[in-house]
Formats: sequence, structure tokens, C-alpha cells
Amino acid sequence: MKLIRKREAWGSRIGVVLAAAGSAVGLGNFLRFPGVAAQNGGGAFMIPYFLALIFIALPLCWMEWTMGRFGGLHGHGSAPGVFDVLTSPKKPALKYFGVMGIVGGLGIFFYYVVIESWTLAYSVFALTGKYAAVQSPAEMGAFLASYQSGDGLFFSSRWPAYGFFITTFAANFFILYHGVNRGIERFCKVAMPLLFLLAVVLMVRVFTLGTPVRPEWNINAGLGFLWNPDFSALKSAQVWLAAAGQVFFSISVGIGTLLTYASYMRSQDDVLTASMTSAFLNEFAELVLGASIVIPAAFIFFGPIGTTEAVAGGTFGLAFKTTPLIFKGMTGGPLVGFAWFFLLFIAGCTSSVSIIQPALSFLEDEFGFNRKRCIIVLGVLTFTFANLALFGKEVIGEMDFWFSSLGLPLFGLIESVIFIRFFGIERGWKELHRGAGMRLPLIFKYIMCWCAPLLLFLILAGWFVTEGWKTTLMIKVVEGRWQPLYAGDAFYWVLATRIVLLGLFAATCWLVRYAWSLRSEHSN
Ligand code: ALA
Repeated sequence: MKLIRKREAWGSRIGVVLAAAGSAVGLGNFLRFPGVAAQNGGGAFMIPYFLALIFIALPLCWMEWTMGRFGGLHGHGSAPGVFDVLTSPKKPALKYFGVMGIVGGLGIFFYYVVIESWTLAYSVFALTGKYAAVQSPAEMGAFLASYQSGDGLFFSSRWPAYGFFITTFAANFFILYHGVNRGIERFCKVAMPLLFLLAVVLMVRVFTLGTPVRPEWNINAGLGFLWNPDFSALKSAQVWLAAAGQVFFSISVGIGTLLTYASYMRSQDDVLTASMTSAFLNEFAELVLGASIVIPAAFIFFGPIGTTEAVAGGTFGLAFKTTPLIFKGMTGGPLVGFAWFFLLFIAGCTSSVSIIQPALSFLEDEFGFNRKRCIIVLGVLTFTFANLALFGKEVIGEMDFWFSSLGLPLFGLIESVIFIRFFGIERGWKELHRGAGMRLPLIFKYIMCWCAPLLLFLILAGWFVTEGWKTTLMIKVVEGRWQPLYAGDAFYWVLATRIVLLGLFAATCWLVRYAWSLRSEHSN
């Protein structure tokens, strides 16, 4: 009989729900969602959003949770091991597809932790009044550039940025070092209620702002700016892709995280209720709290034109150029600004610790590393790559392209095919409901089986045809003409990033091969 190493388990039901919700609720809910929705048809965006949620993201969520718990019971918590349990001995090579479920999370972590460190920095700057004299979004942009480069009007060295980065990095690894139960679960039990409390306080503050600038720039008009539907937007494939991309990123599917979190559950633990509850908390944070803070506040202070400009500046523009100005303009500005950026920092932390967990679980389960060794190996690796994101030009966008825009739907598609083909839909459906306190309507069995993989394939193909090929070839099309996407140094940074990421992928494939060769030596 094969000996299965004793693995950690979640301490309580509420703990696993809060940890999974923590993974889902992140910068995506409070920054990415309002910006993407406002840019892509406002209220009408919710049609593709909900379709993607119901027909792809939730079914994929259930598949991840089900496969994860199953893999965990066989001693594996990361995708190569889980895929191997499901596909061996028929197709042992399929475990290599699981490498994406490790590298994907790592890749997002490399740049996510950098952005998270900016939120920590800005929470301190809000309190200390570091940007109190800044008046316009353009100046705020100069403030951010000066902070990042350590050069310019506001900062004379890179050390403040590096200090906040190291603090954020250390906080993540401190939590991870204490493990799933005593680290992540404990942290999320405190962080998640605090996060919701801060978000509610900020929402109330925004709703009680009144009309400090012009009577027509009021809360109703601000909410209307986000929610009034522009149905013509639905004709654009880009809007549908943006909606699917947002749901995936927000709910944390296709990263491998939920698979790993579920692997720490016991055989009769209820994966269905846990997945539904955490998805519900995520949607509440996104649609109610996330949607009620940034855009309405920007509207009240900057009106429709200013808000449109802020939204066009993308997620980073909205976060670091517009919101500091909005919050500093309110009564109690420093405290409100602090609350906002600290909220983002907490939301970021609960997500970043989750996206690195598949890699940690891989080292623990497949190589028998103890926690300290895992932390050292992953610490060195992620620190090195995060520095690339911190210092390199255009590196964050490049990592986001491969790991988020392409990686999430691609790995989601792989997971769904393996689930359907090798778990089998009947067995999978039964396994999903084992220990569950609720039952899904039967229709979802067919949605899981047919709709989710088919739609995922269409989304990937649509994304590649409209956007993906251009970024892959590093070009942009301006008035029908191809132009280089990156100029000067940025080109070399992006090229170097591609080469090292490919190297990381190849090295992880080799590690999987090595782990399984050790395993077969043991069993002989
Ligand atoms: N789900 C996480 C977020 O929304 C990654 O930021």
C-alpha cells in the first residue's frame, strides 16, 4: 500500500470559507472591477459578467474544489499531483499540464506583491500627508513615478519603495510560514471581517459626501455613471472578453489556488457550500462594496469628464493617481485615505498568500520539504522575480498578459477537460455533492460538462484573435499599420522577462519529472 504523508487540514468550516473568500476578494474587486465595468458598457457589462459567472466561473470553481479535495485525500495538493491521480495510468504525461497550476500563481505573485507594496506605502503617505500638496491627477502621476524610480520632485532614493516592498514581502512569507491552519486561516479570520468593515465605512463615507463641488455631481449621478447601461457595448467581442477576464481574476479560478485550498479539506467536508459561500462573499465585495466606492467618489469630485479620464487611465491610474486626490479632499481625508489604501493592502495580502500556496504545497507533498525549506526556496525565487517586476520597464504588464489574460482561461480549460474526461461527469457530480448541505439543480451538471469548456475555448480563441496575437508579437496596430509595442529599453526588459519565465516553466516541468522519478524509485 502506498504511504500517504499526513497533510495539514483547515481548522474550521468558517476558516476555509474566509480563506477562500480572502483569495477571491482582492485588488480585482475594489480597483479592477469598477474601472473595467465603467469602460465596457456600465450596467450592460453585467450581462456578460453574470453569464460568465454562471456558465463558466462557478462551474469551474466546483470542478477545482472537487478535484482538489480528491487529490488531497491521495496526498497531492497541487495540480501535477492531482492530475496524475486522475489520469494515471492511462495518460501519465497529462500531469505536466498541471505545471501551469503552479507557475500561474507564482507568476501573478511576482507582480501582485509589488502592487500590494504600493498600497501599503500609500496608506502611510495618506496618514503622514506626503502627497497632501499634490493637486491634479497629472501631478499624482509624477508622484507615483518619482516613488517608483526614486528620482524626481517627491523622492530622492529608491529606498522608500524598496522598504515597503520588503515589508510586504516579509508579511506574506510570515503568514505562509505558519501554514494553512495557523497562518492563512488565522490571518483571514481577522483580516476578512476588518476588510469588510473598512469597505462598509468607506461606502457610508462616500454616500454621505453630499455635493461638495457641484449640485449635479451627486451620489445618484455617480452610481448612474457606473450602472446606466450602454447596450451598444454588447456588440463588441472585447466587452465579453473583458467580462469573462474580470470574473476569472476576481473569483480566483484557473490559478490552481482553489484546487490547493480544497486539498486541505477532509473527505466529508462540504466543498459545494464552501465554494458557493466564498463566491457569494466575493460578489458582494465586488458588486456592492467595490462598485460603491471609487467611481461614485470620483464622480462627486471630478464630474463625468474627470471620471471618464480617470477610468481611461486603467486600474493603476484609478488607484494611484485619482483616489489619493479624492480621499484627501474629504473631511477626515488622511484617515479616509489611510482606510482605503489599508483596505487594498489587506485585500491584496489575503489573495497573494493564496496564489503562492500551490507552489508551496508542491514542494511539501512531492519532495517532502518541511515548511522552513519551502519558505527559503520560494522566498529566494519569488524575491528574485519580484525584483524584475519592481525594476523592469513594462514587466508588470508583460507578466499580467501571460499569467492573467492567457493563463487563467487556458488553465481553466485544461482543468475542465481533465475533470470531464478523466473524473467523469457522473462521478464528478457525485463527488461534488459528497458531504454537501445543499444540492445544485441538475441543469448545472450539463453546464459543467458542455458549456464551461466550450465557452472557455471560445473566450481563449476570441481573446487571441482580437488582442493576444498582437501582444505575443509585441506589436500594436495604429490606423491599420503595425507598430512596435515597446520602444528602447522596454523591449529588452520584456524579452528578458519572456526568456526567464520560459526558463521557470521548463524548470518546473523538470521538477515534476524528477519528483515522479523519485516516487517510482521509492515504490520499487
Ligand atoms: N482574486 C484576486 C483579486 O481579485 C486575485 O485580486
